[in-house]
Amino acid sequence: MSGISRIQCPVLRNRIMTAEQAAELIPNGATVGMSGFTGAGYPKAVPQALAERIGKINQDGGRFRINIWTGASTAPELDGALAEVDGIEMRLPFQTDPICRNRINDGRMDYVDYHLSEVSQYAWSGFLGKMNLAIIEVAGIREDGSLIPSSSIGNNKTWIEQADHIILEVNDRQNIRLEGMHDVYYGTALPPDRKPIQLTSPSDRIGEQYMQCPPEKVIAVVETSAPDRNSPFKAPDEVSKKIADHILEFLEREIDAGRLPKNLLPIQSGVGNIPNAVLEGLDAGPHKNLTAYTEVIQDGMLKMLKSGTLSIASATAFSLSPDGIKEFDENIELYRDKIILRQQDLSNHPEIIRRLGIIAMNGLIEADIYGNVNSTHLMGTRMMNGIGGSGDFARNAYLSIFVTPSIAKDGAISSIVPMVSHVDHTEHDVKIIVTEQGLADLRGLSPRQRAKTIIQNCVHPDYRSDLISYFERACNSGRGMHTPHLLGEALSWHQRFEETGSMKNS
Ligand code: COA
Repeated sequence: MSGISRIQCPVLRNRIMTAEQAAELIPNGATVGMSGFTGAGYPKAVPQALAERIGKINQDGGRFRINIWTGASTAPELDGALAEVDGIEMRLPFQTDPICRNRINDGRMDYVDYHLSEVSQYAWSGFLGKMNLAIIEVAGIREDGSLIPSSSIGNNKTWIEQADHIILEVNDRQNIRLEGMHDVYYGTALPPDRKPIQLTSPSDRIGEQYMQCPPEKVIAVVETSAPDRNSPFKAPDEVSKKIADHILEFLEREIDAGRLPKNLLPIQSGVGNIPNAVLEGLDAGPHKNLTAYTEVIQDGMLKMLKSGTLSIASATAFSLSPDGIKEFDENIELYRDKIILRQQDLSNHPEIIRRLGIIAMNGLIEADIYGNVNSTHLMGTRMMNGIGGSGDFARNAYLSIFVTPSIAKDGAISSIVPMVSHVDHTEHDVKIIVTEQGLADLRGLSPRQRAKTIIQNCVHPDYRSDLISYFERACNSGRGMHTPHLLGEALSWHQRFEETGSMKNS
């Protein structure tokens, strides 16, 4: 379709209008499903036009708010713009926007963060209510009205099916050669009609290249020309490199012990500088023909695909830096048959993750000495981003690895605490914790053994003696010895930080 109109369907060409006209079609109180996942493939024009409209209404004393469901995080043009004008009543299932975060944490916006694999079935089951409208970015519209997805799929298939009306944004900044890289699966169903998903390798294609979309539902088509949000990656720092080295050494030991094949098992990697450093480390290592079954393709994976370290990567979205986008666009032919984008209920599906035996690597905010992990809440009450896909992968992975620097806020906070202030991943799901200090392999260990291993291997020296003291006093307290705690003291670390600005014992 290069060089010709990206809107090939005559019926839909008749529905082209401006973003402002399309925004007028969205009623107050509507539940709107938006495309978008980790800043890729989100609508870029209509949400901004809507924010402008809402801003004027709310400034004049009105109250215009909508509910927004997405795949995952979007960008300032969507979450930021609509949160800024107090236009969001309820948001799900994941966000990373600073303005949204403030609104959520000051109680002005409701937020439900769900496992990303589950959102689609919740929408289908009906308890979330009716979706009035979907705004979906696409790379093009084919003659028969089917859609060429853009840089993410996320929940788009479900939103198109669920919404009463659809607004399409056709973005000519999305590479048209994305066509054919998607695999949209139409075999999902609610129980009791659910069937096994016949996907047994990350390279399997079990669906269609295009998204089906009934033209009669489409009330507007808006042409756009704007890039995805692309945050630059920092070059791996010393802490990230040390964490990566610990993981790479651990994987070598697992191969030597015969518990992992030489080309490992499919990798899932969270987004961020530490996971990216691990990918760089793997790329520099001896292993070839690795595979990835993950949520997002980040820069490190492109490098691995180019070098041949990685043979195939399956995900639901890209999350590339400006350099990564340039590399992808310039060499798209090299990547086209090595990357498959799927809807998020498949990229994160527990059945598939368990079957493939994923090596999952995700970040955390804090872990406790028994291996419970908090990925979402700062000091137990303030939302950071959300659980995202970390729970889908952590619970069902073959190896569930969590990574973090051992300290935060320049050492005022220990990432390892007696008791996490909020639990996202329980001790039952967390198998390995890694900081720059070392790696704690928690497999097969009882709670007290886990505590000793985590304190010895992962805790920053500034906090080690305090945690040893806590653990020993808990063991000697005469209370339960299975998971020894001093309940009154357990969360005092967090209180100490809130009161004095440091978790350190004065
Ligand atoms: N207590 C309080 N604040 C803490 C903290 C702690 N124990 N640990 C970190 N922080 C603060 C940091 O100082 C930083 O604050 P700042 O932005 O004001 O500097 C912020 O929390 C984020 O920390 P950072 O180290 O930059 O986080 P990250 O980029 O490594 O991300 C998570 C860590 C947990 C927030 C991130 O991995 C996440 O959102 N996870 C959930 C979703 C997920 O895992 N998805 C993966 C599937 S693809």
